[in-house]
Amino acid sequence: MSLYPCYMLTETVDFLIIGSGVAGLRAAIELAPHGSVLVVTKDKPSESSTEYAQGGIAAAISDEDQVGIHLEDTLKAGDGLCRENAVRTLVEEGPERIMELISWGAEFDREGLKLALTLEAAHSRRRILHAHGDSTGKELERVLLTKVRSMPSVRKYPFALTTDLVMNGGECHGAYVLREGKVTALHAKATLLATGGAGQIYARTTNPLVSTGDGMAIAFRAGALLEDMEFVQFHPTSLFLPSAPHFLLSESMRGEGARLLNVHGRGFMEDYHPMAELAPRDVVSRAIISEMVKTGSDHVYLDLRHMGREFVKNRFPRIYSTCLLYGVDITADLVPVSPAAHYIMGGVKTNLQGETNIKGLYAAGEVACTGVHGANRLASNSLLEGLVFGARAGRAALTSTVVPKQSAASGGGADTIGECEAIRLQLRTLMWEKAGIIRCGESLGEARQGIRRWQRISRQTFLTRPELELKNMILLSALIVEAALHRKGSVGAHYRTDFKERGEEWQRHDAWDRERFGVSAEIPGKGRR
Ligand code: SIN
Repeated sequence: MSLYPCYMLTETVDFLIIGSGVAGLRAAIELAPHGSVLVVTKDKPSESSTEYAQGGIAAAISDEDQVGIHLEDTLKAGDGLCRENAVRTLVEEGPERIMELISWGAEFDREGLKLALTLEAAHSRRRILHAHGDSTGKELERVLLTKVRSMPSVRKYPFALTTDLVMNGGECHGAYVLREGKVTALHAKATLLATGGAGQIYARTTNPLVSTGDGMAIAFRAGALLEDMEFVQFHPTSLFLPSAPHFLLSESMRGEGARLLNVHGRGFMEDYHPMAELAPRDVVSRAIISEMVKTGSDHVYLDLRHMGREFVKNRFPRIYSTCLLYGVDITADLVPVSPAAHYIMGGVKTNLQGETNIKGLYAAGEVACTGVHGANRLASNSLLEGLVFGARAGRAALTSTVVPKQSAASGGGADTIGECEAIRLQLRTLMWEKAGIIRCGESLGEARQGIRRWQRISRQTFLTRPELELKNMILLSALIVEAALHRKGSVGAHYRTDFKERGEEWQRHDAWDRERFGVSAEIPGKGRR
């Protein structure tokens, strides 16, 4: 039965894709020759995390590199929790996906005729391709959108927020989307989630405003398994100024020689890890937080002053001009930085074909969890993940045997939340302070208590974007807190001061669904519709 009022419209397509970043568009290209494809996005199609990805895309393509070394680096960064077959798929299929992209017109930076490759944290080889210096994601998005535009069977459906999945007899038959105040039931034989991450649940995040965890939340409400939710990656360096967003300062800046200094101007990374600035992200983020606590400050500095003005301007043109807008000349000034939520390793549990535990429902990219990143993603593996697993999920969706049935409309109105913006701010601060980079049972307990205040919201039906996003953010926050409480040990990006060691049986992936929440804890998600 439908949740939504009787003025609901309906439409049927062959394949429904929710999200228009690298994974969604790559899947659309795979599906286009085989039927009608509708790509739903809640904003304009280019507004996704892909568009903002700077540093690059990793692949073992140089003569000095091998896929086996890329595999090893990924496993090491993942801190013992990567699924090796997923990593093998990523590193083996990655180079082919990139060459295909180049054949579609992608312009990666070159040194002479050769592709220019840079270094990033925890990579033992220079293997990061980049475009226009620091606009790699934007270039990928441009090429994929152009390709999709040339395929007449693919239609875009922008400014439409997916509110829930259409479920019928335990199968997914499409999704309900909200556009201009009207709900449409979009029916499809295969529905593919490519909605990206959930960084907006944290007060400090590099993610765009659209990253509110919608795909994970709607999948969870429909009965999907979510896995590894305790593993949230915090990027070490985002711009930290009172008037500026937490704009990403790419890891490749440290790859090219930028240094971290505390507020007294002293380098500190050597005190924390032999790889110093190029240690894995979780290590660098924790080191920065420790240094901030020691010096009683809310930031540290990134120092590029020794790297040469022209080099820095040419290599990082987007970062240079953005920082300048906020009064910081990265070639001459120390740049105030702070870690910020960047990527969630957990998500909708899928196999290597993007299949979820729900028939007819597929997922790829950051919204999904194949286990490819383990407990901590290796830098520049996420665009690659979108390409490789987007293509695979697209191919798998072709084989869906679901026959979509129209969902019957029922009556019933929507609720509203007063002070939606105020709750959003409180939630983001709570998550940053109590369930962020360094956690413990006590802080997580406080986060759980705080979230319970808004428990009812996660069970209501709303018809505006701010309210629906808040509902999803509350659910996702609750899931992350619960998963973090459950893992009594520290692995990768999940670090607890009350359990600093890995703990017993640490090498596991915890999956959560509505039933498990229902029996394990009184938190949002327990209630049934
Ligand atoms: C960066 O440029 O530092 C971001 C790359 C990534 O998150 O993989």
